[in-house]
Parts: sequence; C-alpha cells; structure tokens
Amino acid sequence: MNTLNTTDFKHVAIIMDGNGRWAEQRGRPRLIGHQEGARRIKEIVRACPHLGVSHLTVFAFSTENWKRTQAEVAGLMSLFRRYIRKEMQDFMKEGVRVRFIGDRIRLDAKLRGLMDEVEELTQNNSRIHLTIALNYGGRDEVARASRRLAEQVALGRINPADVDETTLARFLDTCFLPDPDLVIRTSGEARISNFLLWQSAYAEYEFIDTYWPDFTKEIFSEVMQRFGKRDRRFGAVVA
Ligand code: IPE
Ligand code: IPE
Ligand code: MG
Repeated sequence: MNTLNTTDFKHVAIIMDGNGRWAEQRGRPRLIGHQEGARRIKEIVRACPHLGVSHLTVFAFSTENWKRTQAEVAGLMSLFRRYIRKEMQDFMKEGVRVRFIGDRIRLDAKLRGLMDEVEELTQNNSRIHLTIALNYGGRDEVARASRRLAEQVALGRINPADVDETTLARFLDTCFLPDPDLVIRTSGEARISNFLLWQSAYAEYEFIDTYWPDFTKEIFSEVMQRFGKRDRRFGAVVA
C-alpha cells in the first residue's frame, strides 16, 4: 500500500453499502454479508494513519433501516453488540477513540450500555478517531438539534438573534467532529441516503462499485490518492 506523505489530517466518512447484495450473490443470508462487512472495518481503521486520515466515520445503521424485516433488524442489533464486545480491547491496543452519532433512544438498553462503555474506555485515545453512525439520519439529527436549541431559547439562555450556523452545529451529534473532507459510498449507489447532510456541505464524494465486504485498504488507498489530486475551492476563486 502506498503511504501518503501528509501532515494535513483528514476526516473521511464511509457509507458502508452492499452487504446484502454481496451475500445474495453468493446465495448466503443477508446477515452473513453484514458479518463480513463488520469484519472489514478493522483493516480500514488500521490504514487510516498511513493515509493521512485522522477521523473516520462509518454509517452502520440509518433511521430508515428500521423498515427492514424484523429478522434483519434484530440480526444487525445483535451484530452491533457482538462487534463492540469483541473489538473493545483492540480499540485500546490500537489507540482508537470510539464515539457514536445518531439517536440512541430507540436502541435496546444492552446495546446502549456497550456504546457508553466503549466510549468511556477509549476516551483518552487519540491516534484514530472512529465515529460509528447508529440509528443515524441527517434530517433526524438536525431536527433533534433544533429541538434542543429551541429549549435553550425558551429558557432564555440563547437569544434567537444570536443563532447562526455555529450555534446550530454545537447542538448536532457531530459537535466534536470536523466536517468530512471526503464521503465514500460503496456498492455503486450514487446517493447519500440521509448521511451527514449538514456536515457534507463541502465534502468531496467518491462512489465506488465494490460492495462493502470487498472494500480493501488498497482500494481505500487508491481513493485517497485520487482525493489528494482534487481541487477544492469552497466557493472561492483561486488566483
Ligand atoms: C449496508 O448494506 C448495511 C446496512 C444498511 C445496515 P445493505 O444491507 O444496504 O446492502 P444492500 O444495499 O442491500 O446490498
Ligand atoms: C445507507 O444504506 C445506510 C447504511 C449504509 C447504514 P441503505 O442501503 O440503507 O440506503 P438505500 O436504502 O439504498 O438508500
Ligand atoms: Mg444498501
């Protein structure tokens, strides 16, 4: 793998899509695809420091994914619990700080407990910042942030005239994160499916045909090399 020579660390966000189709292609149950998908995360997290990526955010379950069969949803929830339990010590070994974004209210108590546990355990790690989006939806996040902001206004703690982009951003789940520089979606779909809507205002996008369980550090490296050549203007005219 080529190692990028960069001191300018980046936030990469990934829509890990295609687990179901990966399994179906092999005549296996969709949950096998999700299991393989979860296994892929480690290699990609490990590659981050070599590719100039300090923050990695992965989309694991959307606010719309509850519409799937009860069996698939239950299988995914049980996979998330097993994943956190199994990876907890490796996160410590590899200096990974883990945090979650999304609405936790609808998740079961056992899973929520594990999420709290891994966040607390890894809170002093800083080599790689891994954020897992679980029951996350961009619109839901903005709506929840607005609700909390409105509560502060109602209490007289914030003056409506002072509300600007920075104020609202402080109430988002992602308040601890820089905006993503690059959003990658695997599986060939070219849509964002409610992921980081506010935060991706100036993100670059890469849509990759590979299904997530086949996404390797070599593909990740190629994507990062392409990203390095992009001309990011942020609305300005570069002289
Ligand atoms: C992404 O893979 C994982 C989740 C949404 C939980 P999919 O399950 O969406 O896989 P496809 O898109 O059906 O192939
Ligand atoms: C987006 O993928 C959510 C995750 C990867 C967790 P989906 O497979 O749910 O999105 P759609 O339904 O194709 O838009
Ligand atoms: Mg999908």
